[in-house]
Parts: sequence; C-alpha cells; structure tokens
Amino acid sequence: MNRRNFIKGAIALTVAAMINPTELFGTATAATALKWWQKKSVYQIYPKSFLDTTGSGTGDLRGITRRLDYIASLGVGAIWLTPVYVSPMVDNGYDIADYTAIDPRFGTLADFDELVAEAKARDIRIIMDLVFNHTSDKHPWFIESKSSRDNPKADWYIWRDGKKNSAPTNWRSIFGGSAWQWCDERQQFYLHSFATAQPDLNWENPAVRRALYDAANFWLNRGVGGFRIDAIVYIKKPRNFVDGPADADGTCSVHNMTAATPGILDFLHEFRREVFDGHDIFTVAEANSVKPEDLPAWVGERGVFNALFEFSHVNIMFPHGEVWHRAELFKLSDFKRALSDSQRATRDSWYPIYFENHDKPRSVDNFFPHGTDKILAAKALATILFTLRGTPFIYQGQELGFANAAFDSIDAYDDISSRGQYDLARADGLSDKEALRFVQKFSRDNARTPMQWDSSPNAGFTDGKPWLPVHDDFATVNADVESRDENSVLNFYRRLSDFRNSSDVLIRGDYRELLPASEELYVFERTLADKKICTAVNFTTHDVAIPAKIFDGARKIFGNYPDEKNFLRPTEAIIYEL
Ligand code: NOJ
Repeated sequence: MNRRNFIKGAIALTVAAMINPTELFGTATAATALKWWQKKSVYQIYPKSFLDTTGSGTGDLRGITRRLDYIASLGVGAIWLTPVYVSPMVDNGYDIADYTAIDPRFGTLADFDELVAEAKARDIRIIMDLVFNHTSDKHPWFIESKSSRDNPKADWYIWRDGKKNSAPTNWRSIFGGSAWQWCDERQQFYLHSFATAQPDLNWENPAVRRALYDAANFWLNRGVGGFRIDAIVYIKKPRNFVDGPADADGTCSVHNMTAATPGILDFLHEFRREVFDGHDIFTVAEANSVKPEDLPAWVGERGVFNALFEFSHVNIMFPHGEVWHRAELFKLSDFKRALSDSQRATRDSWYPIYFENHDKPRSVDNFFPHGTDKILAAKALATILFTLRGTPFIYQGQELGFANAAFDSIDAYDDISSRGQYDLARADGLSDKEALRFVQKFSRDNARTPMQWDSSPNAGFTDGKPWLPVHDDFATVNADVESRDENSVLNFYRRLSDFRNSSDVLIRGDYRELLPASEELYVFERTLADKKICTAVNFTTHDVAIPAKIFDGARKIFGNYPDEKNFLRPTEAIIYEL
C-alpha cells in the first residue's frame, strides 16, 4: 500500500522520518508453501508442574493427555514437552540418566504413546526436548567413563588434568561455581557447563555422536513431531583449554569460552543428516549467542534447524552476562530493537516468538513498569506474540496471565540456578534480603509453580502436596474461572490465536517497525500485497498520544480495552486493519 494513502499532510513527514525504511521483510514465506509448524502456535509444557493424576505432588504424562482439549482450544499445532526421561532431577530433567526411557515419576512409555496418539487425533504433534550437551552424572555412560582412564567410554566426556591441584582453567559454570569437578576415581577433573551433576559429553568422539543420534531416532520412530534442542551452542569445545578474561567474580563464564565454537556446524550438519532429514518435523534449537549474520548457516534450507531460540529480547536487562544482581533497567527501545533485529535476521527463514519459558520470570512482571495492571499486560504481550512474524510459543500459564511467585525465603526455592545466583550475590557483598530480592524477580521457579486449573485446594493441580507451592492468586487466576469469563486473558488468547491462524497477513506478511526510538510505544505493521495489519502497544502506566494520526482510516479489530480513544491508555494494545 502506498504510505501516502494513510499518512497525510505535513505531520506525515515527521512520522515518515520515524519509520525505519530498511525494515520491510518477510517475503520469503510469501513465495513458498507453508509448513504445518508455521500455521499454528506451539504450547510449551513443564510436565512436573502441569497436572498430577496420581497424588504424588508431581505432574505426569496422563495429566497432559487429560488436558488435551484445553490445549487444543488454544489453536496450537504442537506441544513442546520439557524432558520426561529418566533423571535424578537435579535440574528437573535436564540431567538425563537414560535417553530412551520415561521417568517413572511421569509415567510409562505406554502413557507416552497414548499421549502422542491422542494429540495426533487433535492434530497436535509432540515435540521432545533433546539434551545432548551433557548427561546426568548418574548416566551409565558417565559411571563407566569415570571408573578409570582406560575403560571403553573413557573419552565420552571432557576429562583434563588440573594444574597445581587446581582446576584446569578459570571457567565458571552457567549455574555458578567452577565448571570443573574433581573426580577421585579417575584422579582428573571433568567439565560441566551447567551443574556439577551434568557432565559435558565429548562430541569429538564419533561413538558419542552415534549414540545420541540413535536416541533421537528412537523418539522419531515413536511418532514425535520434532525436537527442541537444548544448549546446543556448547557442544563444540575449543581446541585449547586456556583461562579466559576474568570478570567481576575473578573467573570467566564458560559461555564466553565455548559458545558457538568454530567447527560446530560440521557436527550439526551431520546431526541433521542422521536425524532430521527426510522427516516432516519441526526443529528449534536453543542457541544463545549465534550472531544475526551467522543465522543463514544455522537455520533454514541451507542451515541445520527450522528455527533458533535466541535470547536478545529476554536478556536485555543483562547486557554483560546473566548475573541477576547486576541487572539493568528494562528499556523499551532495547527490547524493540532486539525483536526487530531478530525479525530482520530471519526474514528468509523463520522465528520462534516467545516471551516466557521455564527459565524465565513471568512476562507480566518482566517487561512492564511497577504498578502495571497484570491482566492488561498479559493481553498486551499476547497481542505482540500473535502479530509478529514467526511461530508463537505459549508457555503454560502464560495464557492465564500467571505472575511471579516471589517466595519469601531462599529455602523455598527448588531451582538450582536460583541458589547459585543467590550465593553469587552474597559473595559479592549483598545482604540476604537484597540477594533474595533478585531471586524473587528473576528465579526460574517463577515459571515453575503448578498450573492453576480451578479454585479448589492446590488449584486442582494435585490431591497430594505440590512439589512447589501454588501461587496464592489461584482463586481468581485459573483455567476454570477464566474459561467462563469472556474478558479473561484465556479467552483473549483463544480469540487472538484463531485470528492469527486464519490471517495470511500475519503468517506471511512483511514486518516493519514504526517509531523505533519511542520509549513509550511499540508500533509495527505487517503487510501482504495491499493488506496491512498494525499493532500498537503502550508500555507505560499513563496515556500516550498516537503520533500524527498514523492510523487514520484504520479499523480496530482487537484490543485489551473494550472501547477506543484517539490516544492509547495505560498498557493499551490495539490491532488495526488498514
Ligand atoms: C537450558 C534449559 O532450558 C534449562 O532449563 C537447563 O537448566 C539448561 N539448558 C541445562 O540443560
């Protein structure tokens, strides 16, 4: 559409200057046939906190099967399950002790097969989480590997001698503390990028790679619809292990030394050939730190995966690494730039849109100023989630407007990284109270409190004692109450999801950001041929004028306020059709 048709007069020139002219993209999808994973959203489930059918206090696979109609009502085409394999649960399943068996806490393989079949009956695929950078220290591979320096699996993990009785390098694990752990049996150190109980595998060893590909193929043969691939940027280690530049803690994050090491793509192309090729699946990799200019090598036809989760928009508070007590203030222009950069970088491929997952705080408490109405905030983010270009990912509870739990003692936290961050803050001189304040704001447990199904005890999540306390807002924020309220966050999600799934403009259209410098509004448009949809969200707690009537002639088709003014009210979000 000719911009002159909707921006008029002298003021229009001002607005035109505020539009970034380079940001018109998304044309790749317009020309090619759509895949199933481009047409609908994905719902992410943290099974431990979803629905307990046995009274154990922990969610299970049958709980998910029981709630499939609820999930289907959100218009999703797939469910991403965080790990359900046999695990000691040091990191809630991301420490795997058997790649091809279901942990008894979650059920059986038969329960899994039933879930896949019942989901398929509703046109929903199951996406499994592959955790291939590391195993549990209780995995039989590691038990054998650590037993001597010359056993058949001796070089399945990363073993090194120390120097002068200290760790081989100054690398700090992502959860805090040294990334090296001494092993008495072998008289050597092993590398763990995450917890001590998560030793890193040695991908240089072809036998390790073969065993991992076989494990992935096991699940493909059971009919899964794809994979979310965990921490994949860390699988390739540098040739030489040397100290890195020390930061304020006197150590160097392992991330800075091993993320996206050159040569990693050779492993990944082999992975693609041995597992993904020839299957109609969706592959999305967790890839913190792949640079936008490197994306074509990682995603799309010439790359390896269908999409990559990168962290730029969710980590803008941590420009110098994710140390919670060094968080900086949320700045809207940074958030928008991160999203626009990602939209630009994936114009020829695809983007997984997300604001929440099991590692992040709840979005209503993360991206808005203090005092924001949480219901409006939940709907405002949903408006962005469903109108950007890519596959929207909904994390369980997000569709109900869940907020942070903020427990009042560090002992109430289960999450291993929360305890690591707390210790880091204390060691840095913060008081108990100050250190706890950062945990309350950023803890991963904020996203892991049990699902709130109804107003009965424990929110209908369990008949037993929930493994993590239920949020105390459950009497009003729950699926039962919200499904009966036309104006609830849940019904807003359902309507928006239907709208997105049936809108060619939203699925295929180009993206362009307007007013990129504004610290108050996020405005962007999606265009396909002569059709245009525009999203405008006020991120402040006050009224904001819509500059220069840029939406003259536009028709409001969605909004989180029932009526319309010629300015945006606090946290107001509107979708216009032009
Ligand atoms: C990323 C996962 O999302 C997180 O939950 C986990 O702790 C780490 N990878 C280690 O596997």
